[in-house]
Amino acid sequence: MTDRRSLIAANWKMNGTLASIRPLVQGVLAGVAKGCQAEVALCAPAIYLAEVGQLLKGSSIALGAQNVSNHESGAYTGEISTAMLQDYACRYVIVGHSERRNLYGETDQQVAEKFMRVQASGMTPILCVGELLEEREAGNTEEVVARQLDMVIQQADIAAFANAVLAYEPVWAIGTGRTATSEQAQEVHAFIRLRLARHDNRIADKIRIQYGGSVKAANARELFSMADVDGGLIGGASLKADEFLGICHAVR
Ligand code: PGA
Repeated sequence: MTDRRSLIAANWKMNGTLASIRPLVQGVLAGVAKGCQAEVALCAPAIYLAEVGQLLKGSSIALGAQNVSNHESGAYTGEISTAMLQDYACRYVIVGHSERRNLYGETDQQVAEKFMRVQASGMTPILCVGELLEEREAGNTEEVVARQLDMVIQQADIAAFANAVLAYEPVWAIGTGRTATSEQAQEVHAFIRLRLARHDNRIADKIRIQYGGSVKAANARELFSMADVDGGLIGGASLKADEFLGICHAVR
């Protein structure tokens, strides 16, 4: 098995103001500088990318965005292009977050287009997949995750996953305080890796698969101890430096 370096990515979502993100970033910088096994990224609201990028300059922490347009440029009011994200030295871009899929109606097709656009620009997509509660309860978890994943594999080709991160985020665990058990997470992570391995073993072995959904400092170590869990995508707990650092330091 490849030694995969875990990635802990903060997804601040639509939270914070300049006044609150400055001390948050300073706190994370100070904690990570003391030593951290994981790679760390901060996915900031688009309007704060410049500010956060400045604060992170010269550090080991990567800058990420939470969304991007599936179009290159043009008459798309309110949208942000990959070229704009590149101007601010973003390394990662979250695509297909369940809030984008479920609240803003993003389709598997659009998610695949975003994934390809991010890749073509040289940044790394963090592709989110995950099932709704009713889908899990109906026993359809694997079917849903496979559908979301297969669309991107078909459109982008398996080779594209050499420069990608996956995030398994069961929708029922996001922001609910209800975390998947480490066994539930491992089961789906292993399924995802196997699905990729059907196309390319080496890529499947190398790719990092993060878990997301109510990860906290208190449950991170157990989740990250699972064989196929390579870090986390962290929402609520990424808004407090100490809590987020506790998660970063849970990676061994
Ligand atoms: P949460 O969000 O940690 O607040 O559950 C995770 C995510 O949506 O990425």
